[in-house]
Amino acid sequence: MGFSKLGQSLTAREILDLIQGDLKLVEREINLASMAPVDAVTSIGQYLNSSGGKRIRPILLLLACRAAGSPGPGAISLAAVVEIIHAATLVHDDIIDAAETRRGKPSTNIVWGNHTSVLAGDWLYMQAFQIALRQRDFHVLDILITLTQMMVEGELLQLARIGKLGITEADYMDLVDRKTASLFSACARLGAHAGGGSEEIERKLGDYGWNLGMAFQLVDDILDFTAREKTLGKPVGNDLREGKVTLPLIYALQRAEPGERTLVDAVLRQGGYDTVAFPEILGLVERHGGIHRARDRAHSFAEKAREIITGFPESPYQRALYAVTDLVTERDH
Ligand code: IPE
Ligand code: IPE
Ligand code: MG
Ligand code: MG
Repeated sequence: MGFSKLGQSLTAREILDLIQGDLKLVEREINLASMAPVDAVTSIGQYLNSSGGKRIRPILLLLACRAAGSPGPGAISLAAVVEIIHAATLVHDDIIDAAETRRGKPSTNIVWGNHTSVLAGDWLYMQAFQIALRQRDFHVLDILITLTQMMVEGELLQLARIGKLGITEADYMDLVDRKTASLFSACARLGAHAGGGSEEIERKLGDYGWNLGMAFQLVDDILDFTAREKTLGKPVGNDLREGKVTLPLIYALQRAEPGERTLVDAVLRQGGYDTVAFPEILGLVERHGGIHRARDRAHSFAEKAREIITGFPESPYQRALYAVTDLVTERDH
């Protein structure tokens, strides 16, 4: 999984050991699914799969499945489906963000160009739906279609807000809900469904996944300020360069002096750190408690997720879902 810190109750290793066998099958299914009659898609699919990735979404789905009941035949396929959807969104996200690095390697848009990448992303999306369709289960399709529309809405909202200094905390949360938490929630719900859980269990696990996803994206946005590029596998200070004002900066701007706002505005207008260096921005975010407050907020989403999972019958899987919340908030990439 690549998380470096350990959970309080179960370690990352112990969590992975619980579902190791299933995860191997998921990897096989993802690799098979990335074979297309057209070389470009196969190459992009293999490039992404071999670059690593934490596989947090399939892990969440598999754990939710076992916490809800026993895994039905669809669980492995669905875990592959959510990872392929995630990979497709990364391909599209990197085109939109004009990103240069992903998972420590040049992003697909850099290697294959935007045109090929956008089409490969489309193909991967449809491949994920093709696999899901094999289950002949409208509920699964309902979750996946609603989810994909939510994620696209999130990216569209984000585009509309690019370069804007006046983003509010509520705007930001709305965006994170769509672009990230919706997928985490869907993973947990699909897992619950595949494990034969009741509607009530599915709803609760969905809520758990949603809170975990909110925490996950908040941490991603904090790491964009605090991480080292080599560990993160993508550049730091990149969100602001891309015109994205995220939670640590939103909080800092609430307390910043007009002169400090001008600095942030300069980076936004230039689309880079030409006249204002990144450490200056990081300094002001830290000075005004932006990192600290965003981390508190991430912890409160993680705490909510823990509260929900505490209500489930005790099992190794329930304990793993509990421990995953720490891994998400304490991760370094
Ligand atoms: C990156 O997701 C996109 C976000 C939602 C922040 P991950 O951090 O899960 O990316 P990989 O799959 O591990 O590379
Ligand atoms: C990722 O948001 C959301 C997606 C749905 C892909 P980011 O733009 O923050 O993700 P990274 O930082 O590029 O991985
Ligand atoms: Mg991006
Ligand atoms: Mg990011």
